[in-house]
Formats: sequence, structure tokens, C-alpha cells
Amino acid sequence: MTQSTDIQTPVFVLDAARLRANLETAKRVREEAGCKILLATKAFSLPAAFPMMTDYLDGTTASGEQEAIMGHESFGKEVHVYSPAYTKAEVERLTEVAEHIYFNSLEQLDRFADIARNAGAKVGLRVNPGYSNATLGGDLYNPCAPGSRFGEVPSKLDQVDWSRIDIFHVHALCESLHEGSVGLIEFVADNFGQYIEQVSTVNFGGGHFLNKDGYDVDALIAAIKVFKARFGVEVVLEPGAGLVVNTGELYATVLALHWNEVDLAILDASASTHMPDVLEVPYRPDVIGAGQPGQKAHTYRFGGKTCMTGDVIGDYSFDAPLKPGDTIIFTDQMHYSFVKTNTFNGTPLANLAVRWEDGIIESLSDFGYEEFRRRLGR
Ligand SMILES: Cc1ncc(COP(=O)(O)O)c(C=O)c1O
Repeated sequence: MTQSTDIQTPVFVLDAARLRANLETAKRVREEAGCKILLATKAFSLPAAFPMMTDYLDGTTASGEQEAIMGHESFGKEVHVYSPAYTKAEVERLTEVAEHIYFNSLEQLDRFADIARNAGAKVGLRVNPGYSNATLGGDLYNPCAPGSRFGEVPSKLDQVDWSRIDIFHVHALCESLHEGSVGLIEFVADNFGQYIEQVSTVNFGGGHFLNKDGYDVDALIAAIKVFKARFGVEVVLEPGAGLVVNTGELYATVLALHWNEVDLAILDASASTHMPDVLEVPYRPDVIGAGQPGQKAHTYRFGGKTCMTGDVIGDYSFDAPLKPGDTIIFTDQMHYSFVKTNTFNGTPLANLAVRWEDGIIESLSDFGYEEFRRRLGR
């Protein structure tokens, strides 16, 4: 790791002070509701930030073996893992790093749960509750969309031997405010009580947008307390985005200006390679100092250097004309951003950095040709 104060773009910069403020919210929920909170590393895997996060959280939850190993090695504390499908060998290896292993269905449970149990791991079953208020991206991010592959369906739950299940798991939300969190908790209490009475823990998944403006944390705390009082179980939440929302930016540079019916600015950051969610969700990330198209005097369409015509970030307006070399700062770029980057067209990965609480910016990576080449095999 190198230390520097000047920023070479493109680079994602975490702001540690803002992360700590978000973590304080998590701590309050944990303490006041008496629940556990795990970091969903799929949203934010930045080991350099983990020492700070371990003080506030109970552990990590992984999407599969590699994240589980990282959580075990770099975060410590509890490691939970859920994947829609495992191989036998994967479950065997997982028992070395994760002490909470969640299965997606009766089929997976029947084949692999004993491996986990015999190794001393707690066993979870993901249930598809058929409830969600997730609206982001239509059904793209709704775990309970019709035909979803996530979680056992309610009609099969009577076939489960609940005496052998430790954790009842639902993940049903996406960027949801408290109405979603509270709604899910109440829905589960009203519809799945007979199963919950047989387990020791209920995990309400992620999608709780805890630190988003408008999220009523007290409403969440109250709902968890009511749930715990009724069922006497341990409650776990596993947010990703909600822990790191608004804690960092993607810095980019204007490389070239162009015109084709509209003014265009070509950046060293790309939607396709650095912010894939811009295209997948899709959404338009905010830029510091920029307005909506036409709102300020000079409007530009931002795009990356890749050959994909649709590698367009959005339209932005500025008070003054842009020029090559100008820095563009995209806000709220910590969740589902650098964990999803790729090197299409040989585009360099965006580097990673942290602005620590003393203001020093520490560079965490130096991705270059070697990183691109390494991923292409020998
Ligand atoms: C099972 C599970 N848990 C937790 C999360 C984290 O969700 P979020 O980052 O929206 O809080 C996800 C996200 O897809 C998930 O699939």
C-alpha cells in the first residue's frame, strides 16, 4: 500500500469518517434492538476498512466460498454464507471458514446439511416469503419476483424437519426504507410463526437501507423488539448497501470533448467497466457540482472509452464549459461498485483508496496491465 495525497483517476475513494457515522447507526440498532448485524460483503469488500468495521458489527455474510474465505481471513468474527447452490466439495471446504451455512431449498438441505451439522456449523434455510417491497430495477432486484430461484417456497415448508434447522432466513428487500423492513418483519411473524417457534435465529437478510435519508431507525428497532418478545429468538440483519451508502466517491477525469448532435465528454471512468449498475439498474449517478441536463449553461453526455455504444453514464450540466483534465466526482459509489468492475477493452480497473479520518488519502491498489493480463490466463 502506498500513501499519497494526490488522486490518480479513475479511483474509488472511501471516506472513513462517513463510514464510521454509518456504522454508529448499525451499533445503535444492535444495542437498542438486541440483534446482530453482519456486513454483506457482496456489496462492499474492502479489507482495509474491516478493522474499523469489526468494532461495530458481528461479522460478515458471504455469497459463496471466496467471500467466505475473505470474511474469515480479513474480518474475523462470525462468518455466515448463503448460496443458491453448492457442490458437496464446496460445503466441505466452507465448514473450515464459516460457522453458519445457509441452504436455498429442501433439495440442497437434504444433500448437504449433514456435512455442515457434522462439522459443528449452524444450518440455515432461506425461505422465499413471497413478500417484498423492492422496486429498484423492476423485478431485476426483487428476490421474491415470480419464478425467483431464491429460497424455498412456503408450500413446501411443512416438509422441512425444523428441529434440525437453526436459522430461518429471508432476504426480500432491496434499498428499502423502514416500511420495507418493518413490513417484512411483521409479514414473517404473521405468516411463518409455526416454523419460527422451532428455530433459534431469524435472519431478515439485507436491503435494509439503514443510513438512507428517510429511514426511520426507531421503527426498525421497535419492530425487532416486538418480534423478539413474541418468539424469543435471536434476530440477525445482513445489510450491505445500507452500511456504506454515501460513504465514498468515484473520481474520474475528462479525457476528450466531442460533439454529435449533443456535447459529449469522454471520461477515464466507464459505466460498463466501473459502474455496471448504471446500466443494469439502470440509474444516473450524481456528480458533484452538476445539475440536470439543461439546468445549467453547459450540458454534456458522459461516456466511457469502451467500444460499447451504450457505455453512457448520463447527461449533466455545468456552469462553465468542461475541458480535458477536469475532475468529475460521482457520488455514492461504495456499494455494488468496485466489487463489480471488469477490464473489458483492456480498460484499467479503477483503483481503490481511503480518506482516513485525519484527512490522509491512502492508496490501496495499483491496478495496471498486470491485473488485466493475469485475468486472461497464461
Ligand atoms: C442473501 C442476501 N443478503 C444480503 C444482501 C445485501 O443486500 P443489500 O446490499 O441490499 O443490503 C443481499 C443482496 O443481494 C443478499 O442477496
